Amino acid sequence: MDHFDYRDGALWCEDVPLARIAAEVGTPVYVYSAATFRRHARVFRAGLAALPRVHLAYAIKANPNLAVLRLLANEGYGADVVSGGELRRALAAGMPADGIVFSGVGKTRAELAQGLDAGIGQFNLELEEEGEVLADLAQARGLRAPAVLRVNPDVDAGTHAKISTGRKQNKFGVPIDQARAIFDRLGRRPGLHLRGIAVHIGSQLSELAPLEAAYARVGELVAELRAGGHAVSHVDLGGGLGVPYRAGEVFPGPAELGTMVGRVTAGWDAELMFEPGRVIAGNAGVLLTQVIWVKPGPDQDGAHPYVIVDAAMNDLARPALYDAWHDFAAVEPTGGRMVANIAGPVCESGDTFAMGRDIDRVASGDLAVFRTAGAYGATMASTYNSRALVPEVLVDGNRYAVVADRVAPETLIAAERVPEWL
Ligand code: LLP
Repeated sequence: MDHFDYRDGALWCEDVPLARIAAEVGTPVYVYSAATFRRHARVFRAGLAALPRVHLAYAIKANPNLAVLRLLANEGYGADVVSGGELRRALAAGMPADGIVFSGVGKTRAELAQGLDAGIGQFNLELEEEGEVLADLAQARGLRAPAVLRVNPDVDAGTHAKISTGRKQNKFGVPIDQARAIFDRLGRRPGLHLRGIAVHIGSQLSELAPLEAAYARVGELVAELRAGGHAVSHVDLGGGLGVPYRAGEVFPGPAELGTMVGRVTAGWDAELMFEPGRVIAGNAGVLLTQVIWVKPGPDQDGAHPYVIVDAAMNDLARPALYDAWHDFAAVEPTGGRMVANIAGPVCESGDTFAMGRDIDRVASGDLAVFRTAGAYGATMASTYNSRALVPEVLVDGNRYAVVADRVAPETLIAAERVPEWL
């Protein structure tokens, strides 16, 4: 459920008409609903309420805007970060260091040191050598780094290949059948407090069965490690819950996840950690855009017109990258319909949001939104074609704030240098 609704024929975010934001901030612009973020944060927590010990680490890659992070910190969320930059953001937003989990397959030595110096709560190790380096860095500082070992359970998450992470050919985690031996070796390192296991098999999962299979394998490993004399106090179950991108789609939600996890982890006696991203942020945002042109199709019969909007693949990359679907809706629909292709101004045929889609009839100058753009939207934006970096707005009730400026080409150009020898 979100808080983007029509009132008297126009689309609002909470108590603010989107047309007002377009007029005052310009387009394209991401618009987030604080009430939706809060609701998702609470529904996710409530779904897991029956589990004994839980830590929620919002995967900030989904939407790392500082205002979003502050809102979620206020909801008691920690952070799952995957770079030194994300770590800085989480701290800058006021997330307590001990609630931060550092994931990522290529953490540099400098980033590991940064995490140690910040006193973060947990490192999720992706390979044995990373554990050795972390142990050395920690020991040199007189510390014991809290860590878990990420395993690759070789489970097909049934999602898009580019966001699937739990097959053995994916770059993530250590093969689960090698985990015991790696745990034995790293467990002896004085600089490391190796305390458990992590798993994350992919994103936008439409079913719980692959997650359940992965968790069951982790359960067997936990039992094996304990039988081998290891203390296992933490298991990080990752993220991955999918969200509906099309009206009418139904996905398993936090309550179903909680029931499944309760069943699979009964008797584990460990703190369970979760790294939700999309399920918190996805439906809390839209990309607000204006139609520049409606360009007729190449011939009279059959070929669809192109609706050219002022948002492009650099602002919302998901359709170009993953053939992802984002519902498109007019801000002030007339009731008419049209079948059209929707594209942005970037000079690539891949800059296409939809082909042959049945949409609200729109004309030049009309406002429209791409829905479910709160996750993996602005955070994946670029300035390709020397377009401005897209701004972000957060609505809360009847007020709103620009929470990320539009970064104009002048600013980007100012960061470049032409050497004097040219
Ligand atoms: N934990 C780890 C270790 C992850 O790699 C990810 C996402 C998450 C948690 C959060 O997963 P979520 O709950 O959001 O599914 N850009 C792609 C999605 C990439 C996901 C990467 N990892 C997209 O736009 O679909």
